[in-house]
Amino acid sequence: MLQVHQLGKRFPGSPRPVFDAISLQIAAGEVVALVGESGVGKSTLLNCIAGLDRADTGEVHIGGEPMHALDEAAAAQLRARRLGFVFQAFHVLPALTVAQNVAVPLLLAQVPAAEHAARTEQMLHAVGLDGFGARQPASLSGGELQRVAIARALVHAPALILADEPTGNLDPRTAQDVLDLLLAETRSRGAAALIVTHSQQVAAACDRVLTLSRDGLHEAPAGPEAV
Ligand SMILES: Nc1ncnc2c1ncn2[C@@H]1O[C@H](COP(=O)(O)OP(=O)(O)OP(=O)(O)O)[C@@H](O)[C@H]1O
Ligand SMILES: [Mg+2]
Repeated sequence: MLQVHQLGKRFPGSPRPVFDAISLQIAAGEVVALVGESGVGKSTLLNCIAGLDRADTGEVHIGGEPMHALDEAAAAQLRARRLGFVFQAFHVLPALTVAQNVAVPLLLAQVPAAEHAARTEQMLHAVGLDGFGARQPASLSGGELQRVAIARALVHAPALILADEPTGNLDPRTAQDVLDLLLAETRSRGAAALIVTHSQQVAAACDRVLTLSRDGLHEAPAGPEAV
């Protein structure tokens, strides 16, 4: 589902690349954790995979389609069709209701308008937010907002989910609940996922763990104690 080949990225003005020659593959249905020290380039890698930022070298294929080679419009279309993204900050749009926020990917993917309400309600139900549709985001707690962000990432049934510390701002208990939810929803859909996390518990719940360091990307040996 995701193939990253020899990806390299250096920000203009920076003396050294953030990362260089990164390769990884995620099969359909596989949930993979991405761990590594703060500042090592995890968010940058996710953004390059999603085509939100541009790598300098290398290739990214999503469902066989060459994200790295697409122009802005085609990249946006590929995202709309294939990708769900949970951001490090929630990026819930404050001027829209909860239901309107969740429905944004349906608009982008050009799902018929007649289906929006039912699919949005179904998704809010799946994340435990029945009855929240008409609320304003400003009236929600952090954990509730994160659930909205997850509902939005999954509503258009993407084949690949990218999540950047989806529980970074939550207390441990709520973080666990939200992550269980993300994993359960991802697995029940047979989607692939790459989840950036600092939590050992989260990493242990994934099928594989990849560690990004200054030396590159390495597969962690099996077992939670190795994370
Ligand atoms: N737009 C940018 N311009 C210049 N440097 C940047 C830019 N975005 C990120 N960086 C730098 O690239 C490096 C990697 O940043 P990134 O946000 O990918 O790290 P991260 O692994 O996600 O860290 P964290 O765990 O704290 O979220 C950092 O040194 C950061 O300062
Ligand atoms: Mg980050």
